[in-house]
Amino acid sequence: MPHRAGRHIRAGAYLAYVGGRSTGAARRPMTRGRPARMLTAMRPKTRKLWLVLHVLSSSAWIGIDVLVAVLVAVRLLAGSPARRGLAYQALGTFVWWPMLTSALICLVTGLVLGWGTKWGLIRYWWVLVKLVLNVILCTLILLALRPTMPAAIAYGVTVAAGEPATIDANGLFMPPIVSLTALSLATVLSVYKPWGRIRRARTGLAAPRSRRRDALPRG
Ligand code: HEM
Repeated sequence: MPHRAGRHIRAGAYLAYVGGRSTGAARRPMTRGRPARMLTAMRPKTRKLWLVLHVLSSSAWIGIDVLVAVLVAVRLLAGSPARRGLAYQALGTFVWWPMLTSALICLVTGLVLGWGTKWGLIRYWWVLVKLVLNVILCTLILLALRPTMPAAIAYGVTVAAGEPATIDANGLFMPPIVSLTALSLATVLSVYKPWGRIRRARTGLAAPRSRRRDALPRG
């Protein structure tokens, strides 16, 4: 029956993937010269879809950070008070929530990829460090950036009206610097995947030799 046969072919393809015989085997850890059997639940197509969402959200996040940096820099670069005021009003009104949204999508898609693939969430240092960075940045957006937005709008309104600013807007230089540095680091970690596996906490011993050899599927 074609329906059953189709299911068998799909199941076979999945087992081949899980068993490391698919074309993606080159990136899979090796055990004694053979690709290690992975307990991954995700099919290749599903993984790619989540990966696309993950890369898109992290790119959007970086883009929004660049926009914040430009809006903040307008204060130094633009001559006219009207432009400076407009930039700070836009910054205070439109930036924090798209930034938080992309950061949360990046976090959720990262968690799904970690759970659903060989990388795990606390199996490799590069994933764990990215997780910590992502959570810290989300917290900073909510607790440090968002509360300063009304002051940014007030600064913009005052400057646009040609009045002397009574608020110190210098602190707004920090968020894009911190965030862009952390996101650049996260991107480098994603591509180079350094530092290998995390030691197993229960025994306090390093992973066995066969596991240590497969520590870094580079490339
Ligand atoms: C902090 C912001 C983050 C950025 C900028 C970022 C960026 C990226 C990029 C560019 C890739 C693609 C790498 C490649 O295919 O070679 C990737 C993959 C990945 N990321 Fe993230 N990521 C971030 C956060 C996270 C978080 C929080 C997690 C997990 C909790 C995570 C887990 C993963 C995993 C497991 C992959 C590999 C997926 C696969 O190849 O199957 N990422 N990340």
